[in-house]
Amino acid sequence: MKTRARFSSLGFVVAAAGSAIGLGNIWKFPYITYANDGGSFVIVYLIAIALIGLPIMLAEILVGRRTQQSPVTAFLHFAKDVPGGKVWSGVGYLGVATGLVILSYYAVVAGWTVYYFGKCLSWSFGGFSDEIAANLGSDFGAFLGNGPVQILFHGLFMAVTVGVVASGIKGGIERVTKLLMPILMTILLLLCIVSVFSPGFGEAIRFLFHVGPIHTEAILEAVGHAFFTLSLGMGALITYGSYLGKEQSIPRDAFLITLLDTVIALMACVVMFSIIFAVPAAERAGTFTKSATILFTTLPRMFYDLPGGVIIAPVFYLLVAFAALTSTISLLEVVASFFIDKLGWGRKKAALVAGSTIFGFGVLAALSLGANSALTNWAPFGQRDAGVFGVLDYFASNWMLPVGGLMTALFVGWVLDAKLTRAELEEGHGAFKFFGLWRFLLRFVCPVAICWIIVAVIGGRAFN
Ligand code: TRP
Repeated sequence: MKTRARFSSLGFVVAAAGSAIGLGNIWKFPYITYANDGGSFVIVYLIAIALIGLPIMLAEILVGRRTQQSPVTAFLHFAKDVPGGKVWSGVGYLGVATGLVILSYYAVVAGWTVYYFGKCLSWSFGGFSDEIAANLGSDFGAFLGNGPVQILFHGLFMAVTVGVVASGIKGGIERVTKLLMPILMTILLLLCIVSVFSPGFGEAIRFLFHVGPIHTEAILEAVGHAFFTLSLGMGALITYGSYLGKEQSIPRDAFLITLLDTVIALMACVVMFSIIFAVPAAERAGTFTKSATILFTTLPRMFYDLPGGVIIAPVFYLLVAFAALTSTISLLEVVASFFIDKLGWGRKKAALVAGSTIFGFGVLAALSLGANSALTNWAPFGQRDAGVFGVLDYFASNWMLPVGGLMTALFVGWVLDAKLTRAELEEGHGAFKFFGLWRFLLRFVCPVAICWIIVAVIGGRAFN
């Protein structure tokens, strides 16, 4: 039998942190924090990360390393020893489907970051006029509605993602993430230092950490986002964990990944809010929308108002594109490794077939932003999530990830033997002091919190 590919030491942490750190951190977290009025929302989010995210992350990595398999075959590995048997592999299939769904629209947004990197280059060299500034919003709308361009950039991003996954664990995923993550962190750190000198910095910090009233909806959104940002609920970390060596410590690695993801999300907020709050409040109300598109409609103008903006602007979009790529890689790896482990395909064929399928679905999402009216107006879950793009996001974030996370928590917390889970967590680590606490959180706190999300979603609340 072929021995399984392995990450080298630190390779796993870097790749998994690369998966976690993505558009969720740099695009989604700042805007939902802004929309939910900062402060308390951030605190709830941090609590959700610690009490729900981290325990489930440990559970996923442990299943992956124990079985040395990607999600479907990982659950099948336990089938003869656990109640429910093969039924649990359904969680794996759900994960593969979730990867397919998320990547279909995620790669479309990732394509936007590449496009805006190019735009900023042209503005930096050609000049950023008042006219360009005034038309940012309508230009973005036109860009979304331009079918061929949307497909082109989505396809470009998918092609690069396929290339990396096809090149293997060490030669592809580890190499690319080890190259990109340090660049990403350096850029973000530099941007943070620049923002300390921005007139908006003080208010940005106050906004992030003030304590104020909070809505139930905001709590739900914080918990839901904790899943998304840590790449949990679809077996991405089962998959990466299956390439982790026995000599590595799972608790240490999980803690590091979570810490990095959280710090980067907060840094992204500091950078963005320092820019936003540098604009006087009165003006801000008129120009600034609390919406998902701020990254592309508002930020460019603010960048070019800053000293050094001509450099900062393109560099920023490059950073977002890098962050997105290390995440799309992990999403594709889940689907590709299913073909490899379950069907015995070669890696190149698996990456290509998975990637092309996802590209195909993504075309529908790419055309649902205005280019095609039937796809744009399709609204089986109500107007709030209209369009293929909105429907996919709604379905993945509100249903597929929470259900996948719940099943994983139940499986590892209740179905797997405590002796087995303890042995796996202590392998390469030594005595795990927090085992009891971890198991308690996994068995009780996580399922209750996730069921609460699911009930809320059934009741008609959506968080995306
Ligand atoms: N965590 C990534 C982000 O924050 C997105 C992502 C990558 C993801 N892989 C995932 C989300 C797996 C859920 C599951 O942008």
